[in-house]
Amino acid sequence: MEHGPNDEFLTLHEFVKAARMTLNSNIWDYLIGGTETETTVRRNRLAIDQIALRPRVLRDVSEIVSRAQFLGQDVRLPVLLAPVGSLDSFDPDAGVAVAQAAGKFGVPMMLSSVNKRPLKEVREATGAPLTFQLYVRGDEAFVDDTVAKAVEAGCQAFCMTVDTAVYSRRERDIAKRFVKRWRTEASGMNYQAALNWYDVERFKSKHEIPLILKGIGTAEDARIAVEHNVDVIYVSNHGGRQLDHGRGSMDVLSEVVEAVDGKAKVIVDGGFCRGTDVVKAMAMGVEAIGIGRLYCYALAAAGVGGVVRMLEILENEVQSAMGLVGVTRFDQLGSSYLHFGAPPVNEPGVHSAFPLLGLDDPGYGGR
Ligand SMILES: Cc1cc2nc3c(=O)[nH]c(=O)nc-3n(C[C@H](O)[C@H](O)[C@H](O)COP(=O)(O)O)c2cc1C
Repeated sequence: MEHGPNDEFLTLHEFVKAARMTLNSNIWDYLIGGTETETTVRRNRLAIDQIALRPRVLRDVSEIVSRAQFLGQDVRLPVLLAPVGSLDSFDPDAGVAVAQAAGKFGVPMMLSSVNKRPLKEVREATGAPLTFQLYVRGDEAFVDDTVAKAVEAGCQAFCMTVDTAVYSRRERDIAKRFVKRWRTEASGMNYQAALNWYDVERFKSKHEIPLILKGIGTAEDARIAVEHNVDVIYVSNHGGRQLDHGRGSMDVLSEVVEAVDGKAKVIVDGGFCRGTDVVKAMAMGVEAIGIGRLYCYALAAAGVGGVVRMLEILENEVQSAMGLVGVTRFDQLGSSYLHFGAPPVNEPGVHSAFPLLGLDDPGYGGR
């Protein structure tokens, strides 16, 4: 790990704690919250925790390479900064700050359409592969115009989020009446609700930029997406912020990878926050792992430098996990490194990957 101004952060949970101290409770709850009972949020962690690693030993792991390819481009880690709306809640430089961090460290970023900074400005702030993520909240001309802007800005791919047909009930926000702002930003929801496979077909027949469908949750839909020549299937339940009582993403992943059968790339997100999480998903054959809340904690805690530092620590954890399971490259991983059905040892929750969080610290709420 390089040494820099953020050496004060030595573990990932320190970012969570620092973000909690920095953000007001409305923003904090907006960030960590899920829908209704937050069962899907918990299941994201549960599904990851129920996979145990099967290590191999005596394999000479003195030189570990955790670089990877993302849609044909070399990246430092197969980790993607997932689209997060309203980044200005965590840092005044919002998407520009995240883009700078992605560029400095060398991982791809997806910019949310719920973003106040011009795409061009974000693009110029990063040398990293950039994807634009769209909530379809307008007619066909609106979509085509948005795609044209993404192409012009040099985006590597275009992402349509498809798990948001209906705006979910996030009770942490509703109970505090902290909804007005988000509701306003959600205008045009009727277009989002009407979205269907015809729109995907139209997109693919009209645009050359690779299409990512974000929010696939079954083998059935993955198969239809492949039939429509979708380039990347993004398995996601929106971090448990859309449908409640869904499955954890890692529970969905096996059937999707099987259904896709190498005909498209697969990305996954939902609860990923440790190096071992990344190694497990890579062993299941994904192109990259998306992280959402984790980089927002780092952003809120220490801006651009915080996100870079967080990625350095995550990289360190990934390399440590690779060495300890006995591989030096991701392509050596496979299902033989995984044991499914391990009993979880922690009560799953949005922060259960960080059991030392809040330990002996009365200044922290201990969530
Ligand atoms: C605060 C917040 C805002 C989000 N905004 C968007 C968005 O604008 N577009 C989108 O496709 N997904 C959005 N997501 C979902 C993320 O892209 C990603 O799927 C999710 O955060 C992954 O789960 P994780 O936070 O447990 O890593 C958002 C998530 C969070 C936490």
